Amino acid sequence: MNIRLFPAIIASLLVLLFWFYYSSVYSGAVDFENLAADVAYVGNEECAYCHREIYQSFLRTGMGRSFYRPGAQPDIEDYTDNNHVYDRQNNLHYEMIAAADGYYQVEYRENDQAVRTHELRRKVDYVVGSGNNNRTYLASENGYINEMPVTWYSEKAIWDLSPGFNRLNMRFNRPVIAECMHCHNDYNVFEEFSVNRYTGSIAEGISCERCHGPGQLHVDKHMGATDEATSASVDRTIVNPVHLSADLQMDVCRQCHLQGEISVFKTGKSSSDFRPGMRLTDIKTVFIEDGLPKGDFRIASHGGRISLSTCFTASNGSMTCITCHNPHEPVQERSRTYFNDRCMDCHATESLTALQEPKNHSNNGDCVQCHMRQGATADILHVNFTDHWIRKKIDILNEKESDALFVRKTALKLRDFFEEEDPAAVIRQGIAYTNYYETRHSEPAYLVRAIILLEQGLQDVPEHLEGYYALARAFQLQGKDQQAAAAYQRVLSLDPTHMWTCYQLGRLYLDEAPERSAAYLARAIHLNPDNPKVWKEYGDALLFTEDVAGAKTAYERALALDSYFATAYNRLGELEFYQHNDLEAAVTNFTRAINQNPDHTLALHNMANIAILSKDLDQAENYSKRVLAVDPEFSASYGTLATVSRERGQLAEAETYLRKLIALEPNNQQALAMLRQLNDE
Ligand code: HEC
Ligand code: HEC
Ligand code: HEC
Ligand code: HEC
Ligand code: HEC
Ligand code: HEC
Ligand code: HEC
Repeated sequence: MNIRLFPAIIASLLVLLFWFYYSSVYSGAVDFENLAADVAYVGNEECAYCHREIYQSFLRTGMGRSFYRPGAQPDIEDYTDNNHVYDRQNNLHYEMIAAADGYYQVEYRENDQAVRTHELRRKVDYVVGSGNNNRTYLASENGYINEMPVTWYSEKAIWDLSPGFNRLNMRFNRPVIAECMHCHNDYNVFEEFSVNRYTGSIAEGISCERCHGPGQLHVDKHMGATDEATSASVDRTIVNPVHLSADLQMDVCRQCHLQGEISVFKTGKSSSDFRPGMRLTDIKTVFIEDGLPKGDFRIASHGGRISLSTCFTASNGSMTCITCHNPHEPVQERSRTYFNDRCMDCHATESLTALQEPKNHSNNGDCVQCHMRQGATADILHVNFTDHWIRKKIDILNEKESDALFVRKTALKLRDFFEEEDPAAVIRQGIAYTNYYETRHSEPAYLVRAIILLEQGLQDVPEHLEGYYALARAFQLQGKDQQAAAAYQRVLSLDPTHMWTCYQLGRLYLDEAPERSAAYLARAIHLNPDNPKVWKEYGDALLFTEDVAGAKTAYERALALDSYFATAYNRLGELEFYQHNDLEAAVTNFTRAINQNPDHTLALHNMANIAILSKDLDQAENYSKRVLAVDPEFSASYGTLATVSRERGQLAEAETYLRKLIALEPNNQQALAMLRQLNDE
């Protein structure tokens, strides 16, 4: 053999080997041309032009009706008889109304005479959910989109608080984050450095291209082409998931059907960077709960549950979602027999008949009924979903047991679903715990864990911006401002334009160094001039530096962006009250704050103070009692009530209030002095 050829042969063998590895594990057998970055999206209507039947059937599925403007789908809700929900915990009523100009959720509170003392009407701008299971409603202002407090539950045909709102009613203030939008809708333009702002027009529904990739190349190829639908060969201008490896096929679905507890995006990635044919791990890490109770599953967990099944693990990649589902066809239009037949594609009748127990394995029993049971999910009330963990022993939770899981008493352990082991894995886990603490369950143990993991991981990957940001957040949430500031500075040294870091540093320095705080917030505003929370914070910092005019402008900017921002109204009112002595303007703003949030303690307390000034004792008492009903430890209100009682000559009562105040604030000199005076009177 020619010795000089030898290395070349090895090299080409290696290339070949690598190609096999690459093709089987990574992209399936095909390189799809439409995954290049410059191929445009065209929208469903274009596809409909040639694939009308698929298009029409897809529009009948849940995915085809996942997101829309109110009225675009038939009303299934009850807007006339049982259109009322009462939140006992917060004493808030909700009424759902179909009016001539749209759909509304009206929040109100009434007194003993059934007179409304508070009313807030919000219009529905978008609907999430086909209603196969439920519909949730969204309200938008200036591109900021929030979830509304009441959801329609189709199975029981009832209205009730939205998922999670039964534990914490966020009223109209729960942001619809990019991930939520991305699982339920087509691509939208998400404003960087916002939490829930979408610019441009909002898409309406999951599109063909979410599973097939951008379509321009494919449409160009076939538009005007006379060739008949060609052979069985693969069309490289469009991804057909069947041509992908099993893993990648699963990932097409898992981008939305694997919710986990929390996801952490890879550096520089966001949910909209995923394309069919990519690995989900190129974009994000999905954390699931380690040691999850068997029956505990979540609404969007199909992708995780199915992988626990022996059917899945023992069939070496021949089972994917597509084995049982054609995503263009509604599940409801499929008979149970269709699904049971899928079981029999793999399970031979003979081996089943041989089973001793239960005996009906032989006579075409309903396999799904026993092995893929429906049950309540741990995250959404009033609905039952199919548990995709196919198994022998079925231990599904009922709604009551599922409810019990809502109230987590112990800290859970988060595990990377895909178990990646790159150097940044530890950092992502640390980020996951920090975010879990912030958004899901404020259990201090998570922060402790997060800091250990992040400090360890950042030693190996010192340039990890998101890692430093999470470390800084964790310290800040623990109240360790100095360590937080140091970590934030590391973020800024990696990226001086990190808006959130400027914002957090602004908050961190607010009390101690208001000028520094204002400078950071100004920098944040320079990076994103449209964030109402940053403007409000900037207003506070300016007020502390005695720039009253600047503060007023800042609060007004916040309110121009978010006209429901109760705290900004209250701040503006305080500014008018304490800086300008303008009682009328103050009352207007405090009232607006209370209209947005009837339990806004600061605004209520401010109103009580104004009532004292204008000698309206009844009003002062009224407002102070409202404060204490929300927060019994709001000590200043006991002071107001003591003043009211003393003015009325009810000295014993005044003393009782003062003692309550002093119990909360033993060193309150004013209260102690007033108590001495009382005893002298
Ligand atoms: C102008 C007509 C036309 C339009 C528009 C069109 N297609 Fe096609 N498509 C075809 C034809 C013809 C075939 C079958 C021939 C082939 O496979 O190359 C096909 C095949 C496909 C396949 C199967 C490919 C394979 O290799 O198995 C998919 C998936 C597909 N189209 C999706 C889409 C999507 C998604 C859109 C919209 C973005 C779309 N098509 C728009 C004409 C069109
Ligand atoms: C862009 C996110 C997204 C992707 C990608 C996605 N799904 Fe879905 N899927 C959803 C959502 C959201 C729903 C619920 C929609 C509703 O009812 O409002 C859903 C519902 C379904 C349903 C039940 C709805 C019905 O009417 O039949 C099936 C089955 C389903 N998906 C299968 C799949 C399969 C299989 C894949 C992968 C090939 C996939 N999905 C990919 C988001 C997605
Ligand atoms: C990881 C992706 C993902 C995220 C994030 C997500 N969902 Fe879902 N959601 C789904 C999937 C998938 C289903 C369908 C479950 C099924 O049919 O079994 C679903 C179901 C629903 C439904 C019921 C639809 C129906 O009738 O079947 C509503 C309503 C809903 N989600 C609202 C939301 C809202 C609001 C958010 C954000 C605050 C959110 N979801 C976040 C994936 C997601
Ligand atoms: C949720 C993911 C998903 C969405 C959304 C989706 N498809 Fe598909 N599509 C698939 C999968 C998976 C296959 C392969 C199905 C199979 O072979 O069992 C497929 C196959 C196809 C094919 C090949 C022919 C066939 O019937 O298998 C065409 C054409 C197609 N899709 C067009 C469309 C069009 C047009 C839309 C939008 C109206 C659309 N798809 C929406 C996942 C999706
Ligand atoms: C892609 C092939 C495939 C499909 C489809 C499939 N299975 Fe399986 N299943 C297997 C394999 C392989 C095993 C492991 C060997 C065995 O027990 O036969 C298995 C095991 C099982 C087991 C035993 C699980 C355990 O924990 O030991 C049950 C129960 C089962 N399957 C039920 C079903 C049902 C019900 C369906 C339909 C909803 C179904 N399978 C669909 C391939 C499949
Ligand atoms: C072995 C067959 C099988 C596989 C594989 C499978 N499913 Fe299902 N799926 C079912 C059955 C059976 C139902 C219930 C149908 C019914 O209600 O009649 C169902 C229902 C659903 C529903 C409707 C809502 C619900 O939970 O009841 C969604 C969504 C869904 N599957 C998504 C997926 C996704 C995503 C995958 C892949 C990760 C997948 N399925 C894999 C058999 C399967
Ligand atoms: C009435 C409920 C019920 C129905 C219907 C049913 N199964 Fe089962 N199946 C069971 C139970 C319970 C077991 C566990 C038996 C045991 O552990 O000895 C089981 C065991 C199995 C196993 C595991 C066998 C093994 O080797 O351990 C398979 C595979 C299976 N079933 C498939 C099916 C398929 C396919 C169908 C539909 C034709 C079906 N089952 C219908 C209840 C049911």
